[in-house]
Amino acid sequence: MAAPGLYRVGSHLLARGHPALCSPQCSLLSAQAARGHRRGAQSFPVIPGDILPIYRHVYEANTRNSDSCGHRYLELLEKVKTGGGENAILRHTQRNKKLLVRERLKRLLDDETFLELSPFAGLGLPYGDVPSAGCLSGIGKISGIWCMVIANDATVKGGTAYPISVKKQLRAQEIAIQNRLPTVYLVDSGGAFLPLQAQLFPDKEHGGRTFYNEAIMSALRIPQVAVVCGSCTAGGAYIPTMAEETIIVDRIGTIFLAGPPLVKAATGEDVTAEDLGGARLHSRVSGCVDHFAVTESEAYSCARMIVSTLNYDPEPEDRAQFEDPVYSAEELAGLAPHDYSHTLGVKLILSRLLDGSKLLEFKADYGTTLVTGFASIEGNLVGIVASNGDLTHDASLKGSHFVQICNQRDIPLLFFQNTSSLDHLPPNVSKAEELTNRLKAQASMIAAVACATVPKITVVIGGCHGGESFAMCGRSYEPNFLFLWPNARIGLVDATRLSWSGQKDEGWTDKKEFKTQLDRLKEESSAFYSSGRLWDDGVILPQDTRRVLGNCLKIISQQKYERTDSQRSPLLRM
Ligand code: COA
Repeated sequence: MAAPGLYRVGSHLLARGHPALCSPQCSLLSAQAARGHRRGAQSFPVIPGDILPIYRHVYEANTRNSDSCGHRYLELLEKVKTGGGENAILRHTQRNKKLLVRERLKRLLDDETFLELSPFAGLGLPYGDVPSAGCLSGIGKISGIWCMVIANDATVKGGTAYPISVKKQLRAQEIAIQNRLPTVYLVDSGGAFLPLQAQLFPDKEHGGRTFYNEAIMSALRIPQVAVVCGSCTAGGAYIPTMAEETIIVDRIGTIFLAGPPLVKAATGEDVTAEDLGGARLHSRVSGCVDHFAVTESEAYSCARMIVSTLNYDPEPEDRAQFEDPVYSAEELAGLAPHDYSHTLGVKLILSRLLDGSKLLEFKADYGTTLVTGFASIEGNLVGIVASNGDLTHDASLKGSHFVQICNQRDIPLLFFQNTSSLDHLPPNVSKAEELTNRLKAQASMIAAVACATVPKITVVIGGCHGGESFAMCGRSYEPNFLFLWPNARIGLVDATRLSWSGQKDEGWTDKKEFKTQLDRLKEESSAFYSSGRLWDDGVILPQDTRRVLGNCLKIISQQKYERTDSQRSPLLRM
């Protein structure tokens, strides 16, 4: 039995007040309170954002690094946009007469505002490149409602699921649960990528978890709609069948556990895909789907109509009033630190992201290596927690206090993370004592961050290294979203602070071997390496950060306008 104040839904234990359990009454109050906060936020002080001439060389070095990371970003974006390549696109569009996945999204969504998540997932893996992990995921508006969309890209090996595809789908469902987003699946998949079946079938966080989550989401009253716009074979067959409402496209959609070749091998019988599991069979005989669409376009407009029956109230229009920052976002490229030693004051970055460049600082003169305070982003009140140097004892206590304040007041937290690892052993006893005290204070901040139930968003603007990254809401601390700037470096140890001269005393004798290991560490610390493995929700350019955060905050706040009650069982297909 769940402890008092906790609700059990499947294996999820949700605390009272968890967004997934929010009541309409508390929602209304929060919405009214938010309007009052925004008016007050306009009188917060403007933070100075001028970059002093003495920092020009740092600014220029950072800009050069940002340019080169930006090129890599654009190159990879271009690469993933072509999915499985030219031949696969021809097979998909001309032989199979299907729309490409991005065309499908255009027909499904209200407009081009689509927060695509982890587009680089699947690149540079030991088993090769799997563009976009073979499935697109992201959040866009359908009939005025923010929805999570998970769409297979059948140009990538028939839309089959690689281990990274499963991870991407599970992350998308986790985001949908955390932010209470209706979810639409565009299913076009040959099921498991068989050569890697051992890495994607048997374990808890493997294929079956997707269907488990569908039931849990339904029990949490998170609606799910599926469009069968291609093959749904084996594992792929469960997605539409577990969804609350499903549409199938005539002569394009099929659902079966084993396709015609397998039937032939097992029984010797020749059967067409249409007769075995086509649109007419499933809409007239099996009842596995609920709507029959003659064309793909008809299917997406049907999905849009279904979303409009969810009975959600779209967010009020008045959220759109806010001030732009005083300072230019283009200068963020010169502020994105090339390495830890190229870090300028974080307020220079904040002054280019916050509404009116305004910040009401909390404990401005205490623990100054962490900047904390209240601000607005595109009209949404937020609590800022930004690295401004090492997370010292005082900075950690300040962070811990501020995180608890935001939690008390229901204010989402934004973490701007730039941490470094300790690169040497303490030289004497008093330094060791200082580090121990710091550890104790960091433990308190880690606990405050872990237990904060308000929405959290993390942007890694520089380093994500060592234990300090936990206190700054790293991935394990379940931020609703975690993004990386292209210059970000992710690794237990900060490779840019290691040198042969420093390491000789630590026992290294072979300089060549040391260099090989250091190069490997640098490669494994890049933002693109991380994103390929889905340790984050995507790489975003510094100049796009404000827009992305603004959208995330709107997406998160949609749940304030939802109707919920205490129903706790999934909808069962009849
Ligand atoms: N595992 C690994 N690779 C698979 C695969 C699977 N389950 N299903 C398809 N592929 C690969 C094909 O080998 C082909 O690779 P290639 O481009 O290197 O030649 C590519 O995906 C496209 O498949 P193809 O059959 O040429 O395309 P299609 O559009 O005609 O058909 C499917 C796509 C998915 C309908 C069809 O391939 C199919 O039925 N696959 C088997 C599905 C299955 O039995 N799954 C069981 C999983 S438990």
